[in-house]
Amino acid sequence: MPFKTAQIRLVSSHSEVYEPCDDSFALVDALLADRSNLIEHKPKFCMEVGCGSGYVITSLALLLGHEFHGIHYFATDTNPHAVRVTRETMEAHGVHAELISTDIASGLEKRLAGLVDIMVVNPPYVPTPEDEVGREGIISAWAGGEDGRSVIDRILPVADNLLSRKGWLYLVTLESNHPLQLCLQMRERGYASRIVVQRSTDEESLHIIKFWRNFDKE
Ligand SMILES: C[S@@+](CC[C@H](N)C(=O)[O-])C[C@H]1O[C@@H](n2cnc3c(N)ncnc32)[C@H](O)[C@@H]1O
Repeated sequence: MPFKTAQIRLVSSHSEVYEPCDDSFALVDALLADRSNLIEHKPKFCMEVGCGSGYVITSLALLLGHEFHGIHYFATDTNPHAVRVTRETMEAHGVHAELISTDIASGLEKRLAGLVDIMVVNPPYVPTPEDEVGREGIISAWAGGEDGRSVIDRILPVADNLLSRKGWLYLVTLESNHPLQLCLQMRERGYASRIVVQRSTDEESLHIIKFWRNFDKE
């Protein structure tokens, strides 16, 4: 029986790379819950920004991969160790993506403009002092600056440029990122949104938001 999501025992690791955690699992749970829609969606180009260990993009490829072929996967991370670890994780599961060590989608924005049908992002979302954002190593996995929004606010316009007309974005956010405000901001760009998974722990309240272009208004 083929795996539906990445197997933790096959996920590679490195001391400077974010290990799959509650937020990664919540994002994959959101994809699993939406699996039949994802399959019907027939995506051609899928992308993860901030791939870390590769757990999420591998799970997405496994979720979709057994149904039909010809999907191109891309994943980026500023941390070069994460790109290597993601490559190992994907190889261990027999799936493949184009992996690029870059800031958000720098270098891909022309090539993939308007093409990405599925984008998944578990960004650095923890509120921190602004000078911790974008530092080298593991700290860049969580440091999100004021309200944890510094990286998120840079990702959203890039996602808007890359997403196809039928593109979907799945984004992990924390209560302190003001998810409803994010939805309103995306509404101004023409997107509808829905919270597909909400999960609270003692420490944080996570929301996985799905965005798609709202053509009803046209
Ligand atoms: C919370 S971790 C998520 C890792 C993985 N996607 C997961 O869910 O387990 C955030 C990831 O984003 C990466 N990252 C941080 N800033 C980034 C940026 N500007 N562009 C691309 N990746 C970034 C970090 O290196 C880290 O791997």
